[in-house]
Amino acid sequence: MANVTFRSPSIAKDITLYAVAGDRGTILSLAKAHRIPIPFDCGDGNCGSCVIEVQTLTNKAPYGIALTEKEKEMLRQLGKITPQEVENAETNDTPPRFRLACQCFVRDEDILITFAGDETLP
Ligand code: FES
Repeated sequence: MANVTFRSPSIAKDITLYAVAGDRGTILSLAKAHRIPIPFDCGDGNCGSCVIEVQTLTNKAPYGIALTEKEKEMLRQLGKITPQEVENAETNDTPPRFRLACQCFVRDEDILITFAGDETLP
């Protein structure tokens, strides 16, 4: 069981979802299923519109990840990953601060997702 909390200027207040164990969908698909307006376009790691900040809310070390070259390159183009984060991801599987929601899978850990969203929405 994982609590996934979404925070954005485009939603009135934080929304926490209880993702069931074994749900291995992406953060973007979880958000879409609950009408949380994370911007997205391609859904495949190619456009960068779904960039999110991910914070682990437990005292445990975050789950290791295998950051794909595609996601790494897109985060680089967006200026959302540092050379140190790239090295940490490559050597320790440490997740960087920013991810692409369409490439980030729900894990069994409590996290806070922050996204800019469309601040022009009512
Ligand atoms: Fe295009 Fe995620 S929707 S990179």
